[in-house]
Amino acid sequence: MLGYYSKLSSEVYDMDKYIGLSFGDVEFYRERLADCQGNILEPGVGTGRILIPLLEAGYQVEGFDVSDEMLKICHRNCEERGLHANLFKGQMESFSLEKEYEAIIVPTGTFLLLHKREESIKALKNFYQYLSIGGRLVIDIFLQTEFTLDRISTRTWETRNGDVITLESKIVEVDYINQYTIAHHRYEKWRNGELVRTELERFPLRWYGVEEFRTILEQLGFKNVVISADYHYEKYPTESSEMITFEAIKL
Ligand SMILES: C[S@@+](CC[C@H](N)C(=O)[O-])C[C@H]1O[C@@H](n2cnc3c(N)ncnc32)[C@H](O)[C@@H]1O
Repeated sequence: MLGYYSKLSSEVYDMDKYIGLSFGDVEFYRERLADCQGNILEPGVGTGRILIPLLEAGYQVEGFDVSDEMLKICHRNCEERGLHANLFKGQMESFSLEKEYEAIIVPTGTFLLLHKREESIKALKNFYQYLSIGGRLVIDIFLQTEFTLDRISTRTWETRNGDVITLESKIVEVDYINQYTIAHHRYEKWRNGELVRTELERFPLRWYGVEEFRTILEQLGFKNVVISADYHYEKYPTESSEMITFEAIKL
């Protein structure tokens, strides 16, 4: 079985998309949630890149993640800032909780990691179930534009203690019918020229059409769907590179 947000992958995420980095999403989510008085849930919370600035702004945010390594880093990132957050292990497609939330947020295309259609529908049904009446889902997707098989791209990072982590990525499968790609991510950690750890991650990514995703939300009962591009509220997407945010209400 291949890895998934395991040790090196999580370490790289925390270095590459460090707390304090925003793609416009941190400000957008802070703004969209400004009138939220109650609890907010972030499935796929990761290292806390979104959760932490929201907690610092006084929002009541909780998060869960499927990856122990990501959760460990998220706990550490919170502790370093004197923040306490309710963080727990769970899966978007199967989580079960005791309470409801005024908002559920899934930024950064995390939802696309659910590449199987049935699982993505289960997750959206779950989000609907755990929203209070009047509560809202805010969720990002992006379009898939790269379908070249076996083309390797490489990135490198240097850790604080001078280790070097390399990542080689390549798409190994494109399923046009079911709308997903599978990539392999090969991580290697090098110390003084010697390989100290390696990891191979299977990284799926689903894609949706813009109006297809609106229809899915509406079919599941969500109302008042608003679509925004690149974190400009109500700006309909015009470019394939744009991040696309859906905001929808449970009435
Ligand atoms: C791209 S990161 C996003 C982290 C954070 N939300 C952010 O914006 O920086 C995706 C996260 O989703 C988690 N994840 C992937 N599939 C999941 C699932 N089925 N249920 C819960 N978490 C999942 C991964 O472990 C990872 O931490």
